[in-house]
Amino acid sequence: MDVRMAIMSTSALFIGENKNAAAVFSLLLERDFGLDCVSAVNSKHAIELLKNEPHAFGLCIFLLPATGVKEFLEVLKTLPRQIPVMLTADDAHLNHCTQFLPYHPLAAKIAYSVDWQIISTAITRLLRVVDRKERKLAPFCALDANLFLRLEESPYDLYLKLSDDKMVLVFRRGTNILSDDTEKYQLKNHPHFYLKAQDYLQALELFLNKIKETLKAETPLHNDKLSSIAMFTHQNMRQMIQRLGLSDTAIEMANSSIRSIHKMLNSNDKIAEHFTKFLTKKNYLSEHCLAIPFVVAGMATTITSFPAVDLEKITFASMFHDIGLEDLEMAQVRHINDQVERNWGSAKLSVIKQHPYASVELIKKLSGVPADSEKIILQHHERPDGSGFPHGVDYKKISPLSAMFIVAEEFVSSVYDSGLDKMNVDAVMDDLALIFHKGNFLMAFKALQTAVGHGPLQLIKGQ
Ligand SMILES: [Fe+2]
Ligand SMILES: [Fe+2]
Repeated sequence: MDVRMAIMSTSALFIGENKNAAAVFSLLLERDFGLDCVSAVNSKHAIELLKNEPHAFGLCIFLLPATGVKEFLEVLKTLPRQIPVMLTADDAHLNHCTQFLPYHPLAAKIAYSVDWQIISTAITRLLRVVDRKERKLAPFCALDANLFLRLEESPYDLYLKLSDDKMVLVFRRGTNILSDDTEKYQLKNHPHFYLKAQDYLQALELFLNKIKETLKAETPLHNDKLSSIAMFTHQNMRQMIQRLGLSDTAIEMANSSIRSIHKMLNSNDKIAEHFTKFLTKKNYLSEHCLAIPFVVAGMATTITSFPAVDLEKITFASMFHDIGLEDLEMAQVRHINDQVERNWGSAKLSVIKQHPYASVELIKKLSGVPADSEKIILQHHERPDGSGFPHGVDYKKISPLSAMFIVAEEFVSSVYDSGLDKMNVDAVMDDLALIFHKGNFLMAFKALQTAVGHGPLQLIKGQ
């Protein structure tokens, strides 16, 4: 794979028949990834575009159902370099297309969802593999002219581009956009309006919200039960664990650890109530708290004489590590990077950075908290290279239990994004191998590898 070529590509190719979905993807890819989005109505059209300009695209997004998926993936294989492709659909169509999808470390499949957070993290993971660099905003940015035709008056100054260095102002902020005018400006030859960079970001938000509303109204959304992203819901926990292929010993260890933490919590009425409320919600926040102890138990069984009490420390930490956060989306921020900084703004960012402390403050009210759990909670966002928060503890200083927790959580949140099929678990493990390769993190990662039987095409037993 030629990673360098992928880095230089600044476009994403979207393939799908739903125009509103295409518009949403286009705006979000621009906003969050600085990727221009080129839209193809079907796979034939997409193949043409790819063949003409194979180096233009750094990412393909294929919205199913659509015909020609197989042909499209075949053509991808013949290109001079591998382009990451994300197939997105409801479960029925994902299952159908599984047969076409070859093992491909740069491919991810996720369930179709209007939840951009889920799609965005899946794309982040894909792009992390090709290590795409941030693209700077140009002074003027283009948006599809048709978007503005939905509005009565222009909320921004709109320009047409006459040449590379000549822009002409055609609609002033607040003036009416009439179809006559658009004809007058011969928009057929100018499919884009250009906006100043500062207006552009606002415009992205504006259209995004508008189109999302339309999309919500017209697309029958799949309820969570049908979606593979909901694999950690309580009723599906058992299935998730089975699909991970953890040993019976690991499952029993996790269960008994969770039981003993429950027992301890029941003697703390107030917290028990708060905690039960928290855990019975069906969302990422509560579900990953339950999934982590199972993954850690799997890791623990691969380590000779791992003390049960250590698993309890991690189980406790798992249940409370994000209790200082109420916002679901915030809980899904694993590390701070430029994109996160741009999306969240400084006030929310500081809540995110401080939440390990907030969680520790809350559990101080409890009695019987296992020793070291506080430390794990405080360290749960630290990274091997010291880029984590709140303290920037690196691989030399991280505690062994914290390292296990961090590796397990990274694994759980990555498969939550991408789905628990063997190809994605494999790709996730490949990603993690690049991050956790030193000190206690490496030990933890090796334990995880053994626990989930990491290796191409045999990760998930019974499939
Ligand atoms: Fe978490
Ligand atoms: Fe957290």
